[in-house]
Amino acid sequence: MNQQSVVLTGDTVILRPLTHSDIGQEYLSWLNDREVTRYLGVGGSRSTIADVEKFLEKFEDSPNDLALAIIDRESDLHIGNVTLNNVSMVHRTGDTGLMIGRKDFWGRGLAFQAWALIIEHAFDQMGLRKVIAGVVDGNTASLRTLERLGFKIEGTLRKEFLVDEEPRDIYRLGLFREEFRRFDSSQPPR
Ligand SMILES: CC(C)(COP(=O)(O)OP(=O)(O)OC[C@H]1O[C@@H](n2cnc3c(N)ncnc32)[C@H](O)[C@@H]1OP(=O)(O)O)[C@@H](O)C(=O)NCCC(=O)NCCS
Repeated sequence: MNQQSVVLTGDTVILRPLTHSDIGQEYLSWLNDREVTRYLGVGGSRSTIADVEKFLEKFEDSPNDLALAIIDRESDLHIGNVTLNNVSMVHRTGDTGLMIGRKDFWGRGLAFQAWALIIEHAFDQMGLRKVIAGVVDGNTASLRTLERLGFKIEGTLRKEFLVDEEPRDIYRLGLFREEFRRFDSSQPPR
């Protein structure tokens, strides 16, 4: 997607296009950390720089996918990514995913703000009607964050995901534009 111009600024994070210069050993260490990837599609498979380059090229070449780096404003560090995938301008929908790879930035409500910013962009700039997400059973922080943004569980994909070979359900969540709880910067996320 034409990502170059997308920069979204919140109180605690900035979202800007993910670039090849963001990909290095630090990024790889996130993807090879089982605690980070436990509930992600990459699962337990080892990732290489070549895999990540391929992942990024997919976003650069696709008109329907957007990948943004999450930058913590206080430290100016790249702490993770947030994506909008499979955007359909026919149905005006898109799927979102997020990863905070630096675990020292977990537990600060940063996922909430990063998701709020990309969702606001999806509704207000891209004209989407609905944003979709999938959460694996057990990923309570993710489910809680999406529900606080206004997402509702719409269905369960039964035992579709393996966490350490243990089958887990995936909850499919959806959010319509009018359900979106706008991030109010005067209200701390918790
Ligand atoms: C999951 C993830 C997005 C959460 O982001 P975060 O900014 O660290 O989230 P927080 O720790 O601030 O937690 C968000 C909420 O969940 C709650 N929560 C966290 N862990 C919890 C637990 N084990 N049980 C119950 N509630 C929990 C927090 O209290 C908070 O609720 P509140 O907003 O009402 O206070 C982040 O840890 C991450 O990127 N993990 C790796 C990749 C991943 O799983 N991505 C999501 C794919 S859908």
